[in-house]
Amino acid sequence: MRSVDNPIKVSVFGAGYVGLVSATGLAAIGHQVVCIDVDAERVERLMLGEVPFYEPGLSESVTACVAKGRLRFTTSSHDAIAHGEVLMIGVGTPPLLDGSADLSQVINVAQTIGGLLDHFAVVVVKSTVPVGTSDIVRQAVADGARASGESIDFAVASNPEFLKEGDAVRDFMQPDRIVIGSSDARAIEILSAMYAPLCSSPKVLMVMSERSSELCKYASNAMLATRISFMNEIAKLSDAVGADVIDVQRVMAADPRIGAKYLSAGAGFGGSCFPKDLRAIVAMGNDNDMNLNLIKSVIEVNDAQQNVLLDKAMQHFGSLKGKRCAIWGLSFKPETDDIRDTTRSSNGCRCSAVSRRIYLKLSIVNMTRSSMLTCCFW
Ligand SMILES: NC(=O)c1ccc[n+]([C@@H]2O[C@H](COP(=O)([O-])OP(=O)(O)OC[C@H]3O[C@@H](n4cnc5c(N)ncnc54)[C@H](O)[C@@H]3O)[C@@H](O)[C@H]2O)c1
Repeated sequence: MRSVDNPIKVSVFGAGYVGLVSATGLAAIGHQVVCIDVDAERVERLMLGEVPFYEPGLSESVTACVAKGRLRFTTSSHDAIAHGEVLMIGVGTPPLLDGSADLSQVINVAQTIGGLLDHFAVVVVKSTVPVGTSDIVRQAVADGARASGESIDFAVASNPEFLKEGDAVRDFMQPDRIVIGSSDARAIEILSAMYAPLCSSPKVLMVMSERSSELCKYASNAMLATRISFMNEIAKLSDAVGADVIDVQRVMAADPRIGAKYLSAGAGFGGSCFPKDLRAIVAMGNDNDMNLNLIKSVIEVNDAQQNVLLDKAMQHFGSLKGKRCAIWGLSFKPETDDIRDTTRSSNGCRCSAVSRRIYLKLSIVNMTRSSMLTCCFW
């Protein structure tokens, strides 16, 4: 891994899975990074050297970057905005009731930037956001500046993040692709220089329009989720016809056109990204009078799949009353402690619906970082 010749001053908004990994990765290659979060307790822990969630290699990297003086944490917007030539937004975009992405955190940061910026900066949207958000961010920064009576010069770029939890540090440091969506030559130049050490070949850096950049993140997640739902449907068919889905999967994975990744049947996909991003892309279709039938089916298959495990248990035991069960793996995949929107917790909800009264003894057993949920049906 190369280091930059000319360090860039970067401020990253959000010290979550994406923000903290990005801030640390950029500091690791030599940039001067400030990471800001509104969660004062999180920032305090980071200042004490404690990473608030588990991600392999992250804690060590944070410690090393802080020791080299390239990474620091703050809750002060003044501090972060005064520091950054690149202002990267990596805050949450949770789903609204209709499935569309809630952009309030992103817009809030953009308005704050507009109100405090007094030098040229590139405002980078790293959060996963619907197509058109770069325009909204541009407007929000301008509105913030207008409210404070200042005239400011800034550029906006979309730069979606493709890291996956459990492998986030490696994904960030050895990316398959880095997408920069912008029509502003200054933004493209600064971001290309910022990411240069991470580009193992020129093909890694992909420059395109803001809109293509915004869409490619949702399209990628929808594709991966489609593979999972596809295999879950094949698993159901395998059960019905007496085939073994593991054998079917083995054969399919051997075809290089198909490949082995995201081809395992199971309890369905969960986690903090796929479910929300699929609902958001469907909402984007609706907004554009488009019925994204394939993606809707992927969600439908996944919703149904979350009951399969419980149905199988009920089929086997007749009744689950009084049965104590252990579910191995509370998070949606290994090497992460992120239990937002996991299918296991959905199964927990279903358990309570099924059993009327449920005693959930959540004993988190620390076994190679996976966890165990035990529940007892009453
Ligand atoms: N988690 C992933 O694997 C992953 C991967 C790729 C993209 N994404 C996308 O990246 C975005 C962030 O996801 P995440 O998982 O890191 O979320 P997260 O919830 O772990 O972190 C978001 C952080 O932003 C902070 N925040 C909120 N408002 C703020 C503000 N005004 N200023 C500073 N900080 C603020 C929150 O306190 C929180 O710590 C989302 O859009 C998500 O879809 C996530």
